[in-house]
Amino acid sequence: MLASAVRGLLVDGRLALGVRLPAERELATALGISRTTVTAAYRELRESGHLTSRRGAGSWTALPIGHRVGTSGIWAPSDDTDLLDLATAASAAPPELGLAVDEAVADLPAYLSGTGYQPMGLPVLCEAIAEQYTRRGLPTSADQIMVTSGVQHALDLLLRLLVAPGARVLVETPTYPNALTAFGASRGRISAYAIGPDGWDGDLLLSTIRAAQARVAYLIPEFHNPTGHLMDVELRERLPAAAHTAGTDLVVDESFVDLCLDDQPMPPSIAAFDRGARVLAIGGMSKPFWGGLRIGWIRAGAPLVARLAAVRVTVDMASPVLDQLVAARLLAHRDTVVAMRSAQLRTQRDILMAALRRELPEWRFAVPRGGMCLWVELDAPVSSALARAAEELGVRVAPGPRFGADGTMERFMRLPYTLPGEELVEAVKRLAVARADLDRPRRVWSTQAVVA
Ligand SMILES: Cc1ncc(COP(=O)(O)O)c(C=O)c1O
Repeated sequence: MLASAVRGLLVDGRLALGVRLPAERELATALGISRTTVTAAYRELRESGHLTSRRGAGSWTALPIGHRVGTSGIWAPSDDTDLLDLATAASAAPPELGLAVDEAVADLPAYLSGTGYQPMGLPVLCEAIAEQYTRRGLPTSADQIMVTSGVQHALDLLLRLLVAPGARVLVETPTYPNALTAFGASRGRISAYAIGPDGWDGDLLLSTIRAAQARVAYLIPEFHNPTGHLMDVELRERLPAAAHTAGTDLVVDESFVDLCLDDQPMPPSIAAFDRGARVLAIGGMSKPFWGGLRIGWIRAGAPLVARLAAVRVTVDMASPVLDQLVAARLLAHRDTVVAMRSAQLRTQRDILMAALRRELPEWRFAVPRGGMCLWVELDAPVSSALARAAEELGVRVAPGPRFGADGTMERFMRLPYTLPGEELVEAVKRLAVARADLDRPRRVWSTQAVVA
């Protein structure tokens, strides 16, 4: 019991790695159990690789060899091919990536006589990104763009520039877990705005922004991760003015904007309604193209981009030239890649929904009109326990509390539909087994067994 509780807390990320556990005697006293029980539990944890001990020094939490923890605290396997990984919402690279690489290699010699250091990004890529915004109806010039190493890097740079330790940051809850990690690292004080079952309540969000007077508010208006909601035009129009009055900058994460799965016109970017230079849009190639490319960007006023470049030189100087050339070439294939990706995700979304309705009919979800995930309401608040049980069956999922600013959301689970259909069906079958197992009564001995 004790050993599996510690393992569970570790898997769920509630107990950090490298934490020193109390001495056996101390823990036995604190829990009111025998020292032998604690000794046996520590031995079991050492044997399973969840604890390392040094004689006389103590015992620290660890993970078995072959596992490592990503920045989000979500386990990532080193080379476990049997594992069905539903913890990550990301797709494999499109075939156009190979073409873009060949083209970029041919482009490279023209850059080799320069230094290669361009903190704001290669002009050719800044122009291609600006052009995408202009096509979306938001006229943008290349000097309003800063290229980053992914959207996460974009968020980190903005927080470095804007959020002093102790400053207030307003976030949606649930939200993207690695954004929460970034806010924690910036030592901002987090206030949460709860997204309801139907998405944002506009009046409530605007009044929260006015009341919180946060330095920064972080929003994911397109196919929100994890809920999949799309913010309506009316709220988009009202947000920048409310933020301006409150002295709040809106960091708008548009990671999923390209992944609309229904034939519907997309609303304009929130930045299109900005009159006070309050909206900082961040976006990137990871979701529509490939996460391994590590290309993202910030769209802001040109003066702010110049200030960000100064922050960036303390971090990584500039993005790699060849990768930026690949990205610039890949953006030329955008329409083909996005059409292929959306069709693939639509099919997989429908397979996942059908499998859930079949295997776990008590679970509820809204049909997302875009993005990569279902946000599923479970039949009971068992998300963390279910994630642990599913891991035993070779399915990795991110439980609801990962996405909550306050550790709640035990009744929810995010299920991405980025794996091939047959793997999604198999994963749901295993989840159904894991869910049924949770309800099976466990034998509890009322008295200690005598061991002779
Ligand atoms: C909302 C959101 N923002 C940012 C990221 C990170 O993107 P990148 O891989 O470009 O750093 C993700 C990835 O899942 C995401 O879902």
